[in-house]
Amino acid sequence: MSDRHITRRIRGMDTSDGAGVKLKRVIGQPGLDMLDPFLLLDEFRSDSAGDYIAGFPEHPHRGFETVTYMLAGHMQHQDNHGNRGDLTPGSVQWMTAGRGILHSEMPQQENGLMWGFQLWVNLPAADKMTAPRYQDIGPERIPVVQPAAGVEVKVIAGELAGATGPVEGIVTAPVYLDISLQPGAQFTLDLPAGHHGFAYVFDGESALVGGEQLQRSELGVLSDGEQLQLAGGDKPARLLVVAGKPLNESVARYGPFVMNTPEQIHEAIADFRAGKF
Ligand code: CO
Repeated sequence: MSDRHITRRIRGMDTSDGAGVKLKRVIGQPGLDMLDPFLLLDEFRSDSAGDYIAGFPEHPHRGFETVTYMLAGHMQHQDNHGNRGDLTPGSVQWMTAGRGILHSEMPQQENGLMWGFQLWVNLPAADKMTAPRYQDIGPERIPVVQPAAGVEVKVIAGELAGATGPVEGIVTAPVYLDISLQPGAQFTLDLPAGHHGFAYVFDGESALVGGEQLQRSELGVLSDGEQLQLAGGDKPARLLVVAGKPLNESVARYGPFVMNTPEQIHEAIADFRAGKF
């Protein structure tokens, strides 16, 4: 069994998106343009309403999937096909945009903490124009396992310690885990060989990932391998470990459209303007 280790470290970059929501962009920035099949990772965290109140008004997507994982706060999602859903603490929305949707994600609170992640997962050429699909998953459907003393894992996608995450039928066969580590805790996480993966520490001070310390707000790109050694730091820490099958296809990207060729981007823009989403 070969161990994975950290090959690159990237710090989240402060930026804003939507109508002015402040966030940390971790993937999809100059330090890490993408990590096939992952196109973007944002962490939004603020208890100051001015940082999030404007939300993400109506905008389009085509050619990939957006995954929202809420830790705190309440947003409401709505699209032009009549779908509506609440993003509440601990819930996940795995949205396959496919050939296209127009949607908005708007805060349903005027104060208090808003905290969560958005991850963009690419779709292969064969699936870019698939019908849009939603998996709205409440916290009660996410299994929590304790694979070792002082370790607690929410299994959002993938398998761990006999539990299977509720996200299903995703072409990149993703693993998406929210891992809490107490000081002194350690365990070995199996990850599918060949999957590209990363770890991102989002709470506490640091954790040991593949034998190296990873600080809060730092993402570690993982080498290939079958397993990853994880251990707690001096204080409790929480991290995401995410992995997926790389697509190894050309990527043409323009804002909320991610296709394979520039011609397909032009087509996406034309279809959007013509109201075909
Ligand atoms: Co969106």
